Amino acid sequence: MKHSLKKAGGKNMSKQKGLFVVFEGGEGSGKSTQVKMLTDWLSRNGYAHIATKEPGDPQNNLCSAIRDMLLNPQNSDMAIQTELLLFEADRAQHIQKIIAPAMEQGMLVVCDRYEASTFAYQCGGRGLSRQIFFKINDFATAGLKPNIVFWMDIDPASGLSRAKAIKQQDRMEAAGLAFHQRVRAGFAEFFSIQGENVVGINASLRPEEIHEIVIGHIQKLLAGRETA
Ligand code: TYD
Repeated sequence: MKHSLKKAGGKNMSKQKGLFVVFEGGEGSGKSTQVKMLTDWLSRNGYAHIATKEPGDPQNNLCSAIRDMLLNPQNSDMAIQTELLLFEADRAQHIQKIIAPAMEQGMLVVCDRYEASTFAYQCGGRGLSRQIFFKINDFATAGLKPNIVFWMDIDPASGLSRAKAIKQQDRMEAAGLAFHQRVRAGFAEFFSIQGENVVGINASLRPEEIHEIVIGHIQKLLAGRETA
């Protein structure tokens, strides 16, 4: 059995709430590799955790159904308003049913994409009003902010070709290079507004080098919790 943010043989952290760790970045930035490397490290070191993702965490049926609607290339006529509301509906469901309960149990939640992705893709990429995003996102998240965000920054041209080599293009990836350049600028804009707890990472580094950087920050966060 795992313990809440408890290192095996270490200090019992069960009275503390969990930690919320987010990876953000464009297509092909290597987020899922880093999520896997981090969760393997957490398992090896005895920290209770879950890995989740947006949109459509497979641990919740409703999230999966929303993901199908969002990414199906056949839904090419989706209005931008519908797109925003579906991403935010997925987020609300994800927080209420997966993230918040896990944090309540003192777990470390590792999430692949969160609110910065909506700002980057829907405001940066699609040109949606920032004001509307902040209103709806505040409602959907009830103000839940990550303890740390790793922003995996990559040149969209190389990111898209990396992503193409791995899987079939979905509706967002098919949006073209100029769109993904606006997305990258959107991430930069979001983190210039909400820059707290953000670690910018050059995603063209080797996965092991990035993992070292990630672990350095996670260890600091965990140590802060253990001495709190
Ligand atoms: P996904 O298959 O989960 O891949 P990855 O996260 O590895 O890129 O694709 C999710 C797509 O949805 C991706 O193109 C980013 C996009 N997206 C948004 O447009 N807005 C959002 O709020 C989120 C969370 C994702």
